[in-house]
Amino acid sequence: MDIGVGIVGLGNVGSGTLQILIENARQIREKLGFALSVRAVCARNVANKDLPPLPDDVLRTTNWREVLRHPEIDVIVEVVGGTGMAAELIEAAMRAGKSVVTANKELMAIRGAELWAAANAAGVNLAMEASVAGGIPIHTVLREGIAGDRVTGLFGILNGTSNYILTEIEKRSCSFESILSEAQRLGYAEADPTADVEGFDARSKLALLAALAFGEKLTPADIYTEGIRRILPVDFQYAHQLKQTIRLLCSARQTAEGLLLSVRPSLIPQSAILSHVSGSYNAIWVRGAYGEDTFYYGRGAGPRPTGVAVVSDLMRVAREIRFGSPDRVSPFAHERLGEYKPLPVTAFESPYYLRFRVEDRPGIIAALAGVLAKHKISLDAVLQLPAENWRDLPFVITTEPASEHSVRAALHEISDADFLIESPLAMPMERGF
Ligand SMILES: NC(=O)c1ccc[n+]([C@@H]2O[C@H](COP(=O)([O-])OP(=O)(O)OC[C@H]3O[C@@H](n4cnc5c(N)ncnc54)[C@H](OP(=O)(O)O)[C@@H]3O)[C@@H](O)[C@H]2O)c1
Repeated sequence: MDIGVGIVGLGNVGSGTLQILIENARQIREKLGFALSVRAVCARNVANKDLPPLPDDVLRTTNWREVLRHPEIDVIVEVVGGTGMAAELIEAAMRAGKSVVTANKELMAIRGAELWAAANAAGVNLAMEASVAGGIPIHTVLREGIAGDRVTGLFGILNGTSNYILTEIEKRSCSFESILSEAQRLGYAEADPTADVEGFDARSKLALLAALAFGEKLTPADIYTEGIRRILPVDFQYAHQLKQTIRLLCSARQTAEGLLLSVRPSLIPQSAILSHVSGSYNAIWVRGAYGEDTFYYGRGAGPRPTGVAVVSDLMRVAREIRFGSPDRVSPFAHERLGEYKPLPVTAFESPYYLRFRVEDRPGIIAALAGVLAKHKISLDAVLQLPAENWRDLPFVITTEPASEHSVRAALHEISDADFLIESPLAMPMERGF
């Protein structure tokens, strides 16, 4: 007997999933020992979709409730997105005794543990591999591959659009605005790029991964988040002088006091493997107390890489339906440990890159150094590239390790200075990769 699948959502991920299920059906059957059969597909404009050839008896509908009612469907694929109708669908499917595969990071980051508890109560499965880092099987790594380890740090590049923009600024020395509009023209960035460039998409993904990795109940609101809009080509020139590059780094690290979580542009050494992650690729670096460092790299999005994650989840869930798994445990289960409460970002300590844009005049460095010294921040270096425009001179001060608290206090004190053209930009300089 095969396992019946209903797909709700036929956009990027839904179409990639359907293509793989149809084109790769023989391989999938060989690997499982039984077939995965698509019994229904659903989208608002299902009639206008360019679908692969499907048997005539496959239900095509605009009404997701019809998919739910289909008696021969065992697993529902939710690839609609958002926290409204998608949540309604998932909850109704579980109540109807159907397992669910979802790619929905937004929903799972906010309500993952609760939905998992509901799945458990209903005796069904809820799989979500595709929700973070599309083609990288990072959930499986955390749940199975390195489950025996205790994660102490997790660092990632989790948003392809912002990584593409940053690497293009780095390569071509063009402004953020011009690269963004080009990316929008080419379809690499959404018409409304807020979630990507302000770091919110990466924040949902980090919330989910950190909850799984550290066993703490986390939500996106626990994560300090800063986007990439303020990064200038000159920041890359200065970063290169320091043998560093700039990436939108997602980080979650365990300290004796709690968990430090952030999504923010950061300097990382050019020698670090993470600095070679360019374009729309994603990567995740996991540090374990016993197994030490492991690194995972691949496509973070796209119909086919994400489709692979959905289909692989379907296969796992189908095996379970077929062969049973009486002791199913939520991936969020160790949240009960509650060992690592989130800390405010001000507790973070690091060397910092401080970039100032000033109207040049004598005494600026001395004034800045005085304020930094007052806050017990030691200077490491002052970098100044030759500049033609003395009315807008960008230069950089790097510091010895200092707390984010002191850096913020110092920058706040400096922010009134009449030589500043805009408020200073502070980025941590990450070490230890
Ligand atoms: N894109 C990626 O590479 C990627 C990667 C990882 C995870 N994800 C996640 O995967 C999910 C889907 O993303 P996507 O990029 O595939 O989105 P998308 O291209 O916008 O597709 C959404 C689909 O849902 C359908 N839909 C919306 N409302 C519906 C409703 N009320 N009833 C039935 N169908 C409805 C749409 O129908 P119409 O087409 O008829 O409008 C569309 O086919 C999201 O949670 C996203 O975060 C995406």
